[in-house]
Amino acid sequence: MSALNDATRGRLLFGGDYNPEQWPAEVWHDDIRLMREAGVNIATVGVFSWATLEPTPGAREFSWLDSVLGLLDEAGIGVCLATPTASPPPWLGARHPETLPRDENGTVVWYGSRNQFCPSSPVYREHAAAIAQAVADRYGSHPALRMWHVGNEYCTSCWCDESARHFRRWLRARYDTLDALNEAWGTAFWSQRYSEWDEIIPPRRAQYLINPTQLLDFRRFTSDALMECFTAERDIVTAASPGVPVTTNFMPLFAGLDGWRWAAEESAVSVDIYPDPAAGPDEPAGAAYGALVQDLTRSQAGGPWALMEQAASGVSWRPVNRPKPPGLMRLWSLQAVARGADALCFFQWRQSRQGSEKFHSAMLPHSGEHSRVHREIRALGAELDALAPVTGTRVPADIAILHDWPAWWASEQPGRPSTDLSYPDVLAAWHHALWRRNLTTDLAHPEADLSRYRMVVVPQLYLLTDAALDNLAAWVHDGGVLVCGFFTGVADADDRVRPGGMDARLRRVLGLAAVHEWCPLPTGGTVALTDGTAGTLWSEDVEPAGATTHAAYAEGDLAGRPAITRHRHGEGTAWYVSTLPGADALGDLLAGTAADAGVEPVLPGAPAGVEAVRRGPLLFVLNHTAEPATVAVPEPCTDLLTGARHEAEITVEGRGVAVLRP
Ligand code: GLA
Repeated sequence: MSALNDATRGRLLFGGDYNPEQWPAEVWHDDIRLMREAGVNIATVGVFSWATLEPTPGAREFSWLDSVLGLLDEAGIGVCLATPTASPPPWLGARHPETLPRDENGTVVWYGSRNQFCPSSPVYREHAAAIAQAVADRYGSHPALRMWHVGNEYCTSCWCDESARHFRRWLRARYDTLDALNEAWGTAFWSQRYSEWDEIIPPRRAQYLINPTQLLDFRRFTSDALMECFTAERDIVTAASPGVPVTTNFMPLFAGLDGWRWAAEESAVSVDIYPDPAAGPDEPAGAAYGALVQDLTRSQAGGPWALMEQAASGVSWRPVNRPKPPGLMRLWSLQAVARGADALCFFQWRQSRQGSEKFHSAMLPHSGEHSRVHREIRALGAELDALAPVTGTRVPADIAILHDWPAWWASEQPGRPSTDLSYPDVLAAWHHALWRRNLTTDLAHPEADLSRYRMVVVPQLYLLTDAALDNLAAWVHDGGVLVCGFFTGVADADDRVRPGGMDARLRRVLGLAAVHEWCPLPTGGTVALTDGTAGTLWSEDVEPAGATTHAAYAEGDLAGRPAITRHRHGEGTAWYVSTLPGADALGDLLAGTAADAGVEPVLPGAPAGVEAVRRGPLLFVLNHTAEPATVAVPEPCTDLLTGARHEAEITVEGRGVAVLRP
């Protein structure tokens, strides 16, 4: 359960990463004044402070942080205090080179940047625990402390000898015997059989394709190894301040961590989101991407979540870093609130003058408090009191999109039918089709209890466990509406292909005899369907057994074969979509199946580019276009942001937002 309520105390959190160690102390007073004037009520402090706190091994320099926390506290600004362990000081790598990670080639990844630690290194873990303990001991009861922020964007992988030993321990726990490992990894292929545990190594650079299950297990292991680092520090800070929420900021839709397993270890879930301001209002990389990450994070949290980082304007890590035009920062911030965020934070408060991110925007840019960006920050901060009633409330969703990390990992390995197949792109395409029709969705683990959903969508889960298949089959049998995308249910948990090209349980649900062949389309190619639409990316030679054909392939080698099928299973209905329809066609299909399942869009008839989401008692209307949009409202209501009353319709200006209460 999210403990975020303990941090928000009934008001949305608003603030950002604050790195006072980059500035002389006189600037801190200016920071605090400007934070207060901007309505900031939370500052994330200490994320990259290890070398300042422990400039030489074992030294402790806390006086500056005492002052900073004291100033924030006096100003009534809460602190989200970090353990500074994402970026070890150079002395750790210089004195203990074994703490530095090695890549697949055995090359050392040096200090001079950040994140240079081997998650399996006992020496790194010991030093990280010591500094986390020191921070927890000193500030665990500090009156400004609202939340703990452990590490930062955990993401490191390591292939060194220490990691190899740790990987072997992890594999022994998973398989128990070497025979079981050999069986699971299919080592009869290419003479890969292991005769001793010590022969097993991480998937280092090799001559040709590496064993896929070894790769899959290494991803599982890496996520778990990093999670051990997180939970060790979580336990330290929790012991020092029981009840204070603990989070670590996830990267958005990040492949490196198993996000379901990680979220279960957090008392508050947070994420960093950086949609591309250059993307048009209906392009997946813009607002739609934000919505997907927001829906995923809310689902991981099981309730309200924290937007730990976003950009006030442009970032500095894209090839071309476009600023956010006027209004976009506010629009995307309120989109996050609409989709469940109780904290709106930024990277970072004051724009750095030095270092690798000096061109990354900030709440307080180089050009200061009179800049356009800072004025917009202040205006947003001033609005948030009006939104206090939203805090702690839920976003209702009748549709779940099933998503899982091992399926992502397994489906993107080399040696697959098409390297054009990108799991996150397919996931985003299906989510986008639902989002732009204002059909609100959660994301769910394939083994989760699905009973509260009316429709379940599986964009593409190549790997499904037996438990997931049983779960899905029972849910459809009991009356659910399932829409299942291509290349799903193909492999078991060991990445072993199931007979028939798809698991027999799923085929029974879908009314299919077999998937005879996967037929990816040529790069950029499309295939016409008999309903007048076209498929992209993929096609399959599917043999029905009970399913009726909703649309068939209309051209090419599969002409006349079913493309989209429908089947009654028990009390439920199961659709199979063996290609990737275009956005409009997929949206039409999903709107139809949703209607069959009794699910209506929020605000039916809203014009294109207008997002509508319900959260608690409120209806958010977000206009992603640059032009005003007029929408009919379901009942007379008041806009919390303006106080205006609307009887039958409302006009929302370009990039504007209305938050309506009946
Ligand atoms: C991430 C990191 C921050 C910063 C930003 C830049 O979110 O956590 O430290 O590097 O990216 O966008």
